[in-house]
Amino acid sequence: MGKGIGGALAITFALVGVTLSLAACDAGTPAASPGVKVEAGAAAVPGAASAVPVAAQNAAHDAGQTRAQVYKSVQQMTALGKQLFFDASLSGSGKLACASCHSPDHAFSPGNALSVQLGGNDMHRTGMRAAPTLKYLQSVPAFAEHYHESDDEGDESVDAGPTGGLTWDGRVDRGRDQARIPLLSSFEMGSTPAKVSAAVKAAPYAEAFREAFGEHIFDNDDATFNAVLQALETFEQTPELFYPYTSKYDAYLAGKAQLTKAELHGLQVFTDEQKGNCASCHISQRTKDGAPPQFSDFGLIAIGVPRNRALTVNHDPHFYDLGACGPERTDLGGRAEFCGIFRTPTLRNVALKKSFFHNGIYHSLDQVVRFYAQRDTNPEKFYPVSKGKVRKFDDLPPRYWVNLNTDPPFDRKPGDKPSLDEAEIEDVVAFLKTLTDGYKVEGAAGGGAANVAVNGAAKVGAD
Ligand code: HEC
Ligand code: HEC
Repeated sequence: MGKGIGGALAITFALVGVTLSLAACDAGTPAASPGVKVEAGAAAVPGAASAVPVAAQNAAHDAGQTRAQVYKSVQQMTALGKQLFFDASLSGSGKLACASCHSPDHAFSPGNALSVQLGGNDMHRTGMRAAPTLKYLQSVPAFAEHYHESDDEGDESVDAGPTGGLTWDGRVDRGRDQARIPLLSSFEMGSTPAKVSAAVKAAPYAEAFREAFGEHIFDNDDATFNAVLQALETFEQTPELFYPYTSKYDAYLAGKAQLTKAELHGLQVFTDEQKGNCASCHISQRTKDGAPPQFSDFGLIAIGVPRNRALTVNHDPHFYDLGACGPERTDLGGRAEFCGIFRTPTLRNVALKKSFFHNGIYHSLDQVVRFYAQRDTNPEKFYPVSKGKVRKFDDLPPRYWVNLNTDPPFDRKPGDKPSLDEAEIEDVVAFLKTLTDGYKVEGAAGGGAANVAVNGAAKVGAD
């Protein structure tokens, strides 16, 4: 069973029986809640017993390890994964690292405002999508065409539709399979397993790599490459870096901070089903068992984002990025009901991003929220107008328009009142800014400013 990138690590930690705050996802079900201390013994994590051999294999080269050895192995891989993440020598150009597009200072999204990032061997090639944040991916469930919520939160008989998977179209389930994509993509890192393997052999961390993965890891390029993917996946599961839950909103939920009048009003508008209705997809409430909200239900949804004419791929008028039905994703090609749908992103740390939506068309939160509020009442503000006629949904061929979501705020027509007025748009933006990690709680116990994180504050950088 595939799972979000947090799954394997949660089980690994369950194996070693340490007390940890886990943002875990066991077979798609939140097994343990971040912020909730869990005595993670094998019994505490359902399914752990059967997953142990797999986790042990995942965690290390050597079967039959003790728990302490597995724990050490995870630590080694995390440290290696971090170095690999910042290592541009893995790329064909020698100039591009994972961190080039996923900057730790911007919640692992790009530090610049380009709609799509530059890559390829000449560093001039571009793809069709904006680089997303890598935070809070640990609870993304494996992709399912028909998702039935299995915790007691939802009604299991309800089909939530296509849900989950990594990337904008949900085409891979695990961090290791995802990492393969940019490493080998001709418009991203443009590398090969042989080149990656050669780079690792020559890297300052080559010896540490051999220690972690075994004496013979460099004998075979594919084995080296797979070990690189595994180390990257393990690094992406570091809770204090990737899912710390240290935003002002988390502090507010914990009763340790107050929202301003504007932020509080923004939250009301965000959750109001007749206004923003944002929380119907970007969940803002804790789960019943107290786990913090992810600000996404991970559903794949079509909301008719305008065509980004600045993208090179879109110079071809016949080209469309249709999300789950292709062209990047290939297994659902020809399935019309999957055309135009993209995975709902988390809104945690969204204020640190500089380009929004799958094609990076907007560059401010104000524009994004205005799109939701006025897409149907004032379409001429968002779509091209020719001969007095608005070409609505210009990035989705009309035969797929049936896939477009029609819930509020997408239930209006020209002449209707926008679902949010200008002041409400402003307040929603103010609220979105409370979702940025690293908020300091004033006068917390222990004196002075203390981080709301259970795991403590953590910094990462290329070292
Ligand atoms: C040239 C820019 C670029 C580089 C370099 C890059 N990425 Fe990405 N990353 C992207 C883009 C764009 C996407 C979205 C891809 C899609 O939807 O098809 C993405 C998606 C992801 C995702 C999935 C996020 C989600 O929301 O599901 C992960 C995880 C990820 N990248 C990790 C990595 C790792 C690890 C590396 C280094 C091996 C890396 N990336 C290198 C641009 C980049
Ligand atoms: C029906 C589900 C749904 C509703 C309702 C919804 N969203 Fe979204 N949201 C999405 C999806 C899907 C995307 C990605 C769409 C794409 O790029 O094609 C998205 C993207 C975003 C983004 C861009 C994030 C990024 O990383 O690029 C922001 C910001 C956002 N939504 C805020 C809101 C706000 C504010 C509201 C309420 C006014 C709202 N959303 C209502 C599903 C929804």
